[in-house]
Amino acid sequence: MILLQAQQVARHFGADVLFENINLEIQDNSRIALVGRNGAGKSTLIKMIIGESEPSAGNIARKKDLTIGYLAQNADISSDRTIMDEMLAVFDYLQDMEKQIHQLESAMANPDADHQSPEYARILKQYDQLQHDFKEQNGYGYVNEIKSVLHGFHFEEADHDRLISSLSGGQRTRLALAKLLLEKRDLLILDEPTNHLDIDTLTWLESYLQSYAGALLIVSHDRYFLDKIVNEVYEISHNKCHHYHAITVNILMKKPNVSNKNGSNTKSNKLKSISWKILSTVTWSELQQPNEPKVDGNNWKKWIA
Ligand SMILES: Nc1ncnc2c1ncn2[C@@H]1O[C@H](COP(=O)(O)OP(=O)(O)OP(=O)(O)O)[C@@H](O)[C@H]1O
Ligand SMILES: [Mg+2]
Repeated sequence: MILLQAQQVARHFGADVLFENINLEIQDNSRIALVGRNGAGKSTLIKMIIGESEPSAGNIARKKDLTIGYLAQNADISSDRTIMDEMLAVFDYLQDMEKQIHQLESAMANPDADHQSPEYARILKQYDQLQHDFKEQNGYGYVNEIKSVLHGFHFEEADHDRLISSLSGGQRTRLALAKLLLEKRDLLILDEPTNHLDIDTLTWLESYLQSYAGALLIVSHDRYFLDKIVNEVYEISHNKCHHYHAITVNILMKKPNVSNKNGSNTKSNKLKSISWKILSTVTWSELQQPNEPKVDGNNWKKWIA
């Protein structure tokens, strides 16, 4: 299902063209990277996608009732609350349900209640429905879910009662990202989410995003991070946008070990040379890095226009 479609979108500043003729489509299961040099216009395009600004030309159509979660570049979170209270606020609706469930339980436990009355039957029915909805919406697990996401971002139990206003800028950015993940919007847009993350958090975030239920649109200069998550790339370059798809290459790890003249195993060298070959066909030129690619699985991606 299509969530969002940008057609012939342009941004002009007076006579200057930042970009034009951008066509972009986001499906409900999309995993998209938006890449390009500093100043290419990535953040500008994203602000149009979320509706914060209007394109100079073209239009952006969104599915009715689409919910978008957006992490701005260098996002901050300002709040008078503690870390835990801010995260609990995401689940206000569950806490309201919990209160209602307790009220109904009290009504049912009332010794004066007439168990044969229509009123009692109505309470029972409402109680059953609420219990069912509460369970289905992870009512018994959301506190643990919060703790687990906070842990992923290095906020441990001892930090939960800390005031957000006492956190550093980097910590507040991480917390803004944690909150966005908990909100579980249809489309999650992250503008440079990795800037304040150490390697552990980065790895945790990679695996969280891999199983994210909604669509993803991510701006990042971290090619390895993107490679783990996305299967489509839009690259803004020279005022235009190029679109690449990934095909997954599954051959590498199936190659048999090869012994060289000295009898030592050269599988890893072979893997390296093959993987270089694949990566050298990457048209996603912007992100090519001079370092050797990591051989960490059998899912090498090749990008095709
Ligand atoms: N009002 C304006 N008038 C003229 N130029 C502007 C205006 N607003 C933004 N720009 C320019 O538009 C360009 C695109 O900026 P944008 O922040 O979208 O780039 P970006 O691709 O997100 O870059 P980065 O990778 O550094 O975050 C920048 O060169 C910026 O100077
Ligand atoms: Mg930007």
